[in-house]
Amino acid sequence: RGVMVVSTNDREQWGSRLGFIMAAAGSAVGLGNIWRFPYVVGMNGGGAFVLIYLAIVFIIGASVMLAEMAIGRGAGLNAVGSFKKLGGGAWPLVGWMGVIAGFIILSFYGVVAGWTIAYMLKSFTGLMEVASQGKAGDAFGAFVSNPTQVILYQALFMFGTIWIVFKGIGEGIEKYCKVMMPGLFLLLLVLILRAVTLDGAMKGIEFYLKPDFSKVTGGTVLSALGQGFFSLSLGMGCMITYGSYLNKDEALPSAAFTVTFLDTLVAFLAGFAIFPAVFAFNMEPAAGPGLTFITLPSVFSKMPMGAVFSFVFFLLLFFAAITSSVSLLEVCVAYFKDELGWDRAKASWVLGLVIFLLGVPSALSLGGHFPKIAGKDFLDAMDFVASNLLLPLGGILISLFAGWFWLDGCKKEISNQGRLPFVFEGIWVWICRLVAPVVIAIVFVKGLKW
Ligand code: PFF
Repeated sequence: RGVMVVSTNDREQWGSRLGFIMAAAGSAVGLGNIWRFPYVVGMNGGGAFVLIYLAIVFIIGASVMLAEMAIGRGAGLNAVGSFKKLGGGAWPLVGWMGVIAGFIILSFYGVVAGWTIAYMLKSFTGLMEVASQGKAGDAFGAFVSNPTQVILYQALFMFGTIWIVFKGIGEGIEKYCKVMMPGLFLLLLVLILRAVTLDGAMKGIEFYLKPDFSKVTGGTVLSALGQGFFSLSLGMGCMITYGSYLNKDEALPSAAFTVTFLDTLVAFLAGFAIFPAVFAFNMEPAAGPGLTFITLPSVFSKMPMGAVFSFVFFLLLFFAAITSSVSLLEVCVAYFKDELGWDRAKASWVLGLVIFLLGVPSALSLGGHFPKIAGKDFLDAMDFVASNLLLPLGGILISLFAGWFWLDGCKKEISNQGRLPFVFEGIWVWICRLVAPVVIAIVFVKGLKW
């Protein structure tokens, strides 16, 4: 009592290594894994895409993630501040792009995430009946073109996101991720058990796992890289920001590997929850973005206790989404806190509100209530700018920064000042210097098609 613990650095910190890993995995595992990954696999022909995805993620993805964590912990600052401190010159622009990407991605992410709340409730209020008559598509169309509904759920989701970020690193983000991530895993296992025990499940598993390399094109590789970056939350300083709250004794390489592994595991497992069910009921695996909100309710409506499984699925998607959205908001909040001196409460509520408002055009756009931008819905345009432009550009610059400009600093940070030699250091350096920038640059140029 009465003794004050004086610390030289009063920056907030993760309470434990496990807490950091759950938070970083929470950021990575999101709509990208459960909503996007299965339909991208479906559209790219199944098994062969999965193999390419695994290779890309573990070679390039894990390396860039390690670079981001090293930069963040080395500087102990937000994305902009880190580049200002370690790089100077024009480097802070990389951080700036990250903060802007955070605003943009969260604006539309909050809209889609809001749908998960709506669908949790709809599971028990008529969705199963409508879907069993083959009308899940119409129901989805009617829902997304109802602005009041969509904005209401978006607001609800954003409120939850702001609340968690407002509570802080240890008492907010870490605490919620430590509950929601294991919860998500359990729910996923329940769904997998249900899916693989359906009659006819084998056809789905075969589609998912049997590689058919005749379906692989340049476009397949590009989709795999784009998907990997978005899924691992890379290229916008998210792992820089999270790394800045990590203490100096934790080992970074195993943390980056574990997060990459968990993210990939959840994406991979999501396929086992979805494809067997889709095939067992003769639905279309290449349905695209509608796979989750249209095809799955139809599948659930044909099962005993379908409403319960539908609820479990959308709850799982909600957990995945909110543990990611808090990381997007935290990138922005950390910048306003560190660089502009705002306190956490002000930054969370003000920025959360601004991002919510920025998301309203996206919410309106799907029902055609907002003008298209050069032929794209506003939501798709936002997604394009962030995922196809800002993230890859950020990824290239972060790799170059780590591999050439701040290499010694990175090496020290990764080996905890030489105390923990990193066995793959030589390989990692060349992935950052050459492999990642070149591969991402190719994807970037190809991805410029509007
Ligand atoms: N990784 C998240 C997902 O897969 O849904 C999305 C995301 C979160 C992207 C945080 C970028 C980010 F900084």
